[in-house]
Amino acid sequence: MADYETFQHDVLVIGAGGAGLRAAIEASAAGVSVGLVCKSLLGKAHTVMAEGGIAAALANVDDRDNWKVHFADTMRGGQYVNQWRMAELHAREAPDRVRELEAWGAVFDRTKDGRILQRNFGGHKYPRLAHVGDRTGLEMIRTLQDHGVHQGIEVYMEHTILALLKDGERVVGAFGYERERGRFRIFRAKAIVLATGGIGRAYKITSNSWESTGDGLALGYEAGAELIDMEFVQFHPTGMIWPPSVMGILVTEGVRGEGGILTNKEGRRFMFEAIPENYKAQTADNEEEGWRYCQGDKNARRPPELLTRDHVARCIVREIKEGRGSPHGGVYLDIAWIKQKLPNAFDYIKRKLPSMYHQFKQLADIDITEQPMEVGPTTHYAMGGIHVDPDTQMSRVPGLFAAGECAAGINGANRLGGNSLSDIVVFGKRAGEFAAKFAKENSLGKIEQDKIDILARETLAPFERSAEENPYTVQRDLQEVMQADVGIVRTESEMKSALEHLKTLGERANRAGVTGHREFNPGWHTALDLQNLLTISKAIARAALERKESRGAQFREDYPNKDERFAKVNTMISKAPDGSMQIRLEPLPEMPDYLKQVIEEMK
Ligand code: FUM
Repeated sequence: MADYETFQHDVLVIGAGGAGLRAAIEASAAGVSVGLVCKSLLGKAHTVMAEGGIAAALANVDDRDNWKVHFADTMRGGQYVNQWRMAELHAREAPDRVRELEAWGAVFDRTKDGRILQRNFGGHKYPRLAHVGDRTGLEMIRTLQDHGVHQGIEVYMEHTILALLKDGERVVGAFGYERERGRFRIFRAKAIVLATGGIGRAYKITSNSWESTGDGLALGYEAGAELIDMEFVQFHPTGMIWPPSVMGILVTEGVRGEGGILTNKEGRRFMFEAIPENYKAQTADNEEEGWRYCQGDKNARRPPELLTRDHVARCIVREIKEGRGSPHGGVYLDIAWIKQKLPNAFDYIKRKLPSMYHQFKQLADIDITEQPMEVGPTTHYAMGGIHVDPDTQMSRVPGLFAAGECAAGINGANRLGGNSLSDIVVFGKRAGEFAAKFAKENSLGKIEQDKIDILARETLAPFERSAEENPYTVQRDLQEVMQADVGIVRTESEMKSALEHLKTLGERANRAGVTGHREFNPGWHTALDLQNLLTISKAIARAALERKESRGAQFREDYPNKDERFAKVNTMISKAPDGSMQIRLEPLPEMPDYLKQVIEEMK
């Protein structure tokens, strides 16, 4: 490996959002050496886009809450195709992970008697989201980072990993480059944790920033891991839509949790008109009751704006399609209306939603204490990802672990808001613990020089091509195809057409050339990201075609109902020996009786 700078760790964590940081902390605490690689700067992670809170049944605001209710809510929100064991571990362990964050210095908002305050969010039966105003993800990253830097974790910022290296079946390292100078890097490791987050950049409108190109999913897939439930992409109901330069930026669900309402151009609160049968008993059918719920009245039912995200997003799309949208093609989200209810509404909004106040003031010249916001759905989260063992987080590839958004199973067909922040700390910890254990039980593997030489040549290929095909244009066209044909509402013919387009885009990506040299060359980085975007986009379209029904975040116009044949299966995608993408349906593991009973009781 003389030509390549090589680093060696027991555990290599790829991705430094909440899941990666938590995994690195745990592995390091187990006494192994840990390398933490991030594509961007440390601290700049999509975790900060989970603004409204971390879901954990602490029962600080409503003492009826407990892990069983949280488990049942998560399963129902996911329409029962969740991996039950992950949902169980998550609900049981989330409270401890929140208290641990507090012990490490996270400054949560407080109840009057000094406990961690919790707020309402869609699909959660009780106020469950511990929060720091509307900057919860940011506070978590700050806390984990502060805690992690004192543990001797080696951080490699602005590094992109391009391939995992294997010795036989086992992963033994990773090949990548540092983005500033373009120098190649080899990381040797006994165990690897993928924690690269999501896939939002496969879509035109997204809350995700440039890093979210599905890297971990594609790395895992190429190394032999399976991808599960790729059809389930979460479109958060409320992203900014105006001005165009900020389209897609998240508007936290916390706005609705604090009493914000959705209205159409006729001023009608359209969510009252679309309460699903199975949620009717728990959903308020009048303004007064919904408001009382937001103010903590335990006897009131939740407002319809706090139904699950998949449902709210579809209702918004319906309003827009039927011509009742706002001037810039969204609907209105109004928190200013609470002035009718609260004399100190101005202070209340600024205290509860400080980031939203500044975001709209500075980016859209809107004062949300006085005016409604214009919002529309934005691609926010992938429920699908790498299939892992629920307890250890190891994929089917020995030594390869995954945690956080790039792993999957806990959320089923739709994730409840706030469950991602708890997911990353619960399963980040587990991934770190079991990766360290694996590292202690295994030695370093062999890395073949000729494989590295091939990877290096492939990585430099864009410089050898003419610049006729521009990587940015290919990326933009891919995002448009996914947005139009594999978006919130899907049909077979659109998705088949998307797959044809993706084929052509793949050919174009292979022709995409860049000029200049390896230093500070974002065009080259974009050309390299394209392969991952193509892989995961194809996986999403293939899985969505396979699931011939509507469930959670997957809405098929040609199959608008749930279908019993798909009620107990997950879609599984893997790379066949001939390099093609294989898909199969896998029956869900049978749920044990004690959990069936929990679900029954909670009904
Ligand atoms: O709306 C939000 O604050 C997002 C939270 C989440 O995705 O969990």
